[in-house]
Amino acid sequence: MEKSIYGEHLPELEIVKTHLLDEIDSVRNRMQAETGIDPVEHCLARIKSEDSMREKCRRKGLPETTESALTKIYDAVGIRVVCAFINDVYAIRDHLATLPDVEIIEEKDYIRHAKPNGYRSYHMILRVSDDEGAVYAEIQLRTISQDTWAALEHQLRYKQNISGNTELIAEELKRCADELASTDISMQTLRDTINSGGNCKTSSAQSI
Ligand code: GTP
Ligand code: MG
Repeated sequence: MEKSIYGEHLPELEIVKTHLLDEIDSVRNRMQAETGIDPVEHCLARIKSEDSMREKCRRKGLPETTESALTKIYDAVGIRVVCAFINDVYAIRDHLATLPDVEIIEEKDYIRHAKPNGYRSYHMILRVSDDEGAVYAEIQLRTISQDTWAALEHQLRYKQNISGNTELIAEELKRCADELASTDISMQTLRDTINSGGNCKTSSAQSI
């Protein structure tokens, strides 16, 4: 059998994945205790498959080695956290940023600065120190609406032989992303209003 691209490091990757999931659980529990509401709708975690990692090395012009997989590519460990509300995305982000064994290598706020196609999510690349050294992990944080949109866009992108006007499809997808984003903001405003026991002030909330 071909040797794993991760060499002997798979258990280390699993440990870091579990550690980050435990930390996300701990902030969930704390927020649930404080507010009565779980900030996370669902959470997925994976170690990138052998085939995807090799494919990514080739795509980036890197040799298919353990060094590339662990030190040149940062998403061998990947976690996606899906929240109901935008503020919860930032609350989880802030918690991860406080962890003493975690260094933030890169952050991309595609929520405040959406990609041109409409994609929205908050991305973090973390470097998690452990006894053996350090492991990189990619965390994607997004709302349920953003997750739904990304799933559909991903499906369409990888679907061969899309019939119809692809330019029009892209335009429509972008329009859907923007509508969902506006709904996310209205939902956040509604929740803030409910929590403060006040009146709705946004135009979208007033029209309900
Ligand atoms: P990598 O080299 O693959 O890490 O690319 P990058 O660092 O330029 O990409 P980025 O950090 O923007 O995105 C990495 C991951 O985010 C992808 O593997 C997807 O899971 C997700 N992603 C980014 N853009 C899109 C998009 O337009 N649509 C969808 N569905 N997912 C996206
Ligand atoms: Mg990336």
